[in-house]
Amino acid sequence: MNRIISISNHKGGVGKTTSVVNIGAGLAKHGRKVLLIDLDPQANLTISYGLSESEKHIYDAHSNGNGLEPFHIRENIDIIPASSNLAIAEIELKSKDNDENSIARLINPLKSQYDYIIIDCPPSLGLLTLNAFAASDEVIIPIQPHYLAIKGLAKIIEVVNNIKVNVNRRVEISGVFVTMFDKRKILHKDVLDTIIMYFDDRVFKTKVRTNIALAEAPAVGQDIFQYDPGSNGAYDYSRIVQEVIDMESKFGNK
Ligand SMILES: Nc1ncnc2c1ncn2[C@@H]1O[C@H](COP(=O)(O)OP(=O)(O)OP(=O)(O)O)[C@@H](O)[C@H]1O
Ligand SMILES: [Mg+2]
Repeated sequence: MNRIISISNHKGGVGKTTSVVNIGAGLAKHGRKVLLIDLDPQANLTISYGLSESEKHIYDAHSNGNGLEPFHIRENIDIIPASSNLAIAEIELKSKDNDENSIARLINPLKSQYDYIIIDCPPSLGLLTLNAFAASDEVIIPIQPHYLAIKGLAKIIEVVNNIKVNVNRRVEISGVFVTMFDKRKILHKDVLDTIIMYFDDRVFKTKVRTNIALAEAPAVGQDIFQYDPGSNGAYDYSRIVQEVIDMESKFGNK
């Protein structure tokens, strides 16, 4: 079984990186072998693991042609770090005739070594994100329950469909979940109804609640299960992970 999943939403600050860290950690706890790829020049995923610019990052592999060298974090978790010069890669890809397959070519040789490859996308629908979709079987979208957040959904659906038609037939939006949810807010419930209208049974049952421990954990280089296993954040992400695992029979054998 192997699944390549992009965690993407072109809106910034919706919980993409937090989800990559904690879904990755949860899957590793379930014995899945996981590779996390930081494809964001902000390098927040890289920083969450306490790695620095000096580690081997994805831009090196892209520019020197040596291939990706995963960095081992702990049992079942490896990472390909990013650095700010990934922004240069985006410009180079553009000059190479808008190359959308460059990241797929780097990832493919590693595919058989992992159960899950999870890509942390930048908050844009630029060429790096298109490359992530071209390399992926699935796109999972975390959404913050704001009115403006759902306005962008039609765009990301269109972009995934474009990649599906022109570059990578395998890719599809396999799931959507709400982050930073507060059930006391009526607007949050309304927005959730709209999300269900768009995505129907692809909406995860679990909603990730706003939980300060999720924001604190990266500062000490930990995932939520290490930092505060009794927190709402740990509970919610363990349920998200279970839903991801439940999808294996449908998506695990593409
Ligand atoms: N459920 C949550 N409860 C509280 N804080 C959260 C939650 N999820 C994420 N955060 C915090 O919100 C901020 C944005 O989260 P994160 O960096 O994961 O978003 P992102 O979508 O990756 O952002 P960007 O678009 O900049 O890459 C971070 O400070 C993070 O710690
Ligand atoms: Mg991020």
